[in-house]
Amino acid sequence: MIAPILRDLSALRTQTAAWRKAGESIGVVPTMGALHQGHLSLARAARATCDRVIITIFVNPKQFNNPDDLKNYPRTEEDDARKLESIGVDLVYAPDADQIYPDGFATNVSVSGLTDMLCGASRPGHFDGVATVVSKLFLQTSADQAFFGEKDYQQLQIVRRMARDLDIPITVVGCPTIREEDGLAMSSRNLLLSDRSRTKAPIFAEVMNDVREQLINGAAMSDIQDAAKERILAGGYNEIDYFELRDGTALSLLDRPKSGARLFGAAWLAGVRLIDNIAI
Ligand code: PAJ
Repeated sequence: MIAPILRDLSALRTQTAAWRKAGESIGVVPTMGALHQGHLSLARAARATCDRVIITIFVNPKQFNNPDDLKNYPRTEEDDARKLESIGVDLVYAPDADQIYPDGFATNVSVSGLTDMLCGASRPGHFDGVATVVSKLFLQTSADQAFFGEKDYQQLQIVRRMARDLDIPITVVGCPTIREEDGLAMSSRNLLLSDRSRTKAPIFAEVMNDVREQLINGAAMSDIQDAAKERILAGGYNEIDYFELRDGTALSLLDRPKSGARLFGAAWLAGVRLIDNIAI
């Protein structure tokens, strides 16, 4: 069955109130659409644990700091609805922009500390946009559980902090990164790569895995970081925003792995910014 698409908040609230009255639990998967197997894995995780599943699709202008990036972001709503069919999602909430940002909207949700480094450093304002829209989506859907990918690990930690700090009664569930066969982390942005660039893309994940091995075998990040970046650039990437080892909770910088450490990278390939991270 193809899930109904709701575009306004009052219709969403009518539906969720009926589910609540029947004692049913609600899971939400926030997305910006252009759905791939990574998104679908979150929908399946929600389906497995919640009575009702809502997928939200909203390309959030507030989290784009580059107008071209917003303009070029892939929009494939009909395909998206079709992809969700076999999973048995109960509804797609694809709000009109004024349902999220009504005239005169003036509130900003900003999580300090966690947002300064990694993607926050190269994309100023990005995580305020994420925290603002996600807090609204949590409140609008009144979900019990929300499902996020470890692919965007910093985002996952920020959303957890935000929900805790604002006492939003929701459990944030982190789910593993789904990859293409050649190791490239699935991303809506992969659609923007030409065939030629796509063949170069997997070197990023390859280098991450090799660095992981080196760290496990006792190397310090400071000794191997430059060579790793060189390999990514030699493989065809144009620029590296960061390639760092960090703690998995506070995201503080590390030189050697400890429990919960993760390797984080962001790099540009032919005008497309790709990110990845792995547990060490
Ligand atoms: P989007 O990039 O569409 O991602 C939606 C969710 O899918 C996020 O939780 C993301 O981590 C997860 N995801 C993406 N690629 C994945 C992969 N390869 N494996 C597993 N999960 C993956 O992230 C956003 O949208 C937005 O910032 C949003 C949270 C919706 C707020 O606008």
